[in-house]
Amino acid sequence: MDDKLPSSPAEQRDDGPPCSRVLVTGALGNVGREVLRALAARGIAARAAVRSVERARAVLGPEADVVALDFLDARTFQPALAGCDALFLLRPPALSDVKPTLNRLVDVAVAGGIRHIVFLSVVGADMNKLLPHHAVERHLEQQSRTGWTLLRPGFFAQNLGHAYRRDIVEDGRIYVPAGKSSVAFVDVRDVAEVAARVFAAPRAHAGKAHTLTGPEHFTFLEVAETLTEALGIHVRYQSASMPGYLLHLARRGLPASQVLVQTVLHAGLRSGQAARVDPTLTRLLGRPGRTMRDYVHDHVSLWKTAPAAGRNPAPGSHAKEAR
Ligand SMILES: NC(=O)c1ccc[n+]([C@@H]2O[C@H](COP(=O)([O-])OP(=O)(O)OC[C@H]3O[C@@H](n4cnc5c(N)ncnc54)[C@H](OP(=O)(O)O)[C@@H]3O)[C@@H](O)[C@H]2O)c1
Repeated sequence: MDDKLPSSPAEQRDDGPPCSRVLVTGALGNVGREVLRALAARGIAARAAVRSVERARAVLGPEADVVALDFLDARTFQPALAGCDALFLLRPPALSDVKPTLNRLVDVAVAGGIRHIVFLSVVGADMNKLLPHHAVERHLEQQSRTGWTLLRPGFFAQNLGHAYRRDIVEDGRIYVPAGKSSVAFVDVRDVAEVAARVFAAPRAHAGKAHTLTGPEHFTFLEVAETLTEALGIHVRYQSASMPGYLLHLARRGLPASQVLVQTVLHAGLRSGQAARVDPTLTRLLGRPGRTMRDYVHDHVSLWKTAPAAGRNPAPGSHAKEAR
């Protein structure tokens, strides 16, 4: 659902010039990698902001435009932004204190004359102060010098190949606190395509929040059946209690702050909140989004091997998968 819609066809046509170079944070992660691809497909230059330039060059290739940026080191912000006119802002999951990190980067970007910021938020962040994204959204909304757009995706289909991959590969199960509820999984390839469309026509999306879900919803039982059929191994769904899930994440070695945020993000699943299909993605892309089944069938090899113990798959490990 759009928070604000264009008031007239004339306003809809007034897209403004495209951004010319976008600094992409989280560039080696699930979403960032796809944003780099989607920008390249639209002919918009992108600079990957990464913690390790060496690793980024190994993943993205020696020709890639790569710059060092660490949210925990504000001295890296201004040099990373130099020469860019737009920013794709992503909150790394392990980062919960956004004031000295993401919001500080926003301040540096605004002061440096960045034209447009797209923030990858999460569905419901406007209403839930427990989510770190809430404070970033408010911070962006409070400044008026730079255009901004909020993307609020629902549950990623990529969680199956990332956060849940170890459970699926090692234990043959999906273990989440969802009960019998459904989820309108969204594919980050589609989220990235929306981001690229915003950077191509920033004025048309300025001051808007786009809620992005997939076109169909599925129960986790249906997800397990889809994986079983696609992988040829038995995958079962076991609904977790909230304390059981907390313990499970802690045993997986996640830091306490991340355990808390991930549990809050999963809390809405059981109530059915994540089942709601929103038409915005289909409208913005001009086609239906990819479904959970599309994601699984495009990425079957992901579940053929387990990630290293204690780790989720390395960000960017989807590089060779189907697009
Ligand atoms: N999962 C879902 O269902 C879902 C749904 C809606 C919204 N979201 C939101 O999506 C975001 C996560 O996106 P994602 O899945 O693409 O994340 P991801 O795959 O975990 O990637 C996170 C990226 O952030 C980078 N990073 C970590 N710490 C950093 C630091 N201190 N400074 C600079 N970069 C840093 C990582 O770099 P390295 O490569 O160096 O590690 C990595 O590239 C979260 O804000 C989450 O709440 C998730």
